[in-house]
Amino acid sequence: MGNVVHVVGTGTIGEPLVGLLCDMKHQLGIDEVTFYKHSAVLTDRPKVKGLLNRGGKLVVDKEKIKDFRELDLEPEYTAEEAIERATVVVDCTPKGIGLQNKEKFYKKYEDKVTGFLAQGSEFGFGKMYAAGINDDALNSDKYIQIVSCNTHNIAVAIKTVAMRQSADNFVSGRFVCIRRTNDISQSSGFVPSPEVGVHNDERGTHHARDVWHLYNTLGLDLDVFSSAMKVNTQYMHAIWFDIAVKKETSTEEIIDNFINEPRVAVTNKKLANLVFSFGRDHGHYGRILNQTVAVLPTIFVRNKHEVVGFCFTPQDGNSLLSSVTAVEHLLYPEDYRERIEVLSPFLFDEV
Ligand SMILES: NC(=O)c1ccc[n+]([C@@H]2O[C@H](COP(=O)([O-])OP(=O)(O)OC[C@H]3O[C@@H](n4cnc5c(N)ncnc54)[C@H](OP(=O)(O)O)[C@@H]3O)[C@@H](O)[C@H]2O)c1
Repeated sequence: MGNVVHVVGTGTIGEPLVGLLCDMKHQLGIDEVTFYKHSAVLTDRPKVKGLLNRGGKLVVDKEKIKDFRELDLEPEYTAEEAIERATVVVDCTPKGIGLQNKEKFYKKYEDKVTGFLAQGSEFGFGKMYAAGINDDALNSDKYIQIVSCNTHNIAVAIKTVAMRQSADNFVSGRFVCIRRTNDISQSSGFVPSPEVGVHNDERGTHHARDVWHLYNTLGLDLDVFSSAMKVNTQYMHAIWFDIAVKKETSTEEIIDNFINEPRVAVTNKKLANLVFSFGRDHGHYGRILNQTVAVLPTIFVRNKHEVVGFCFTPQDGNSLLSSVTAVEHLLYPEDYRERIEVLSPFLFDEV
């Protein structure tokens, strides 16, 4: 059978991930891409046909085969068959379902499948991962959670501002995640005006909690706190950061750090729609895969030790980059870094 990557879910993350894996499967050393579609609905038929045309194989629940055939879509495997024959399973379902799938299906096949990934909402699924942040912590982990898009952004801001030379330089970080209301591919959840979020515990929202866990895989115990709010736009999330560092620094030095950090794009644009629109023309099916887009004119150093600024979150791009990197790490632990070079045309230095 060779290397089979099975993606569960075809939503905001699943759909582009299936497409990306299909388009680049030869360079990535993948023999087959299968994808599980949950609901048999007419409006999703063009999406499924598009993914089939790109080489994906359709997987559905045994009980729904008839429903899909009525839509003129021919399933290749049932849900459980696809998990059993997969080398890597990437769960891209909404909150809580990945954890249920782990208990119900994944544990049953863990001797056969090399590894399972889940996305941002599945706290507790497995080791937290963001490409370029904690690769050293990936061993032979069977279960990996790709952290959420804003967690990626915060993690990379911390690394770029404070940890390029040594993790000891980081003192503390405060973050406000200014989130877009919903994705352009989603039809529900829109808010009519800015909506502020509550603080759950000592870390505030899940973003700082998750970034703490992410860095803790490297043995670090970071002083981080986050707040979150939603604004009535469908474009990119923005993060405001305030990071304290031990070593004296300057605005120029921090700007240089952002310019030189791999997987980070910088911009002089102050409007999220302009950054988003760049992706439509130059990204992979409209997406840039950078982990963050730092807004250079907003970077400012106060009192030589406090760094403030804004960056935009490429919301599905950074999760896609880490998902593909984690898949390749499971398939090719020795040379996964070389293999993911195929994604470099979609990693921009400047937007
Ligand atoms: N949206 C983002 O920008 C973003 C960014 C980073 C990470 N994430 C994370 O990615 C994950 C997925 O989020 P999303 O935004 O892609 O969700 P989404 O757009 O709502 O898509 C969810 C997908 O899961 C399928 N699904 C629903 N219920 C299911 C079930 N019981 N069993 C199997 N499949 C089921 C849906 O299939 P049908 O449509 O066929 O019913 C749909 O394809 C979450 O962990 C989220 O935190 C999202």
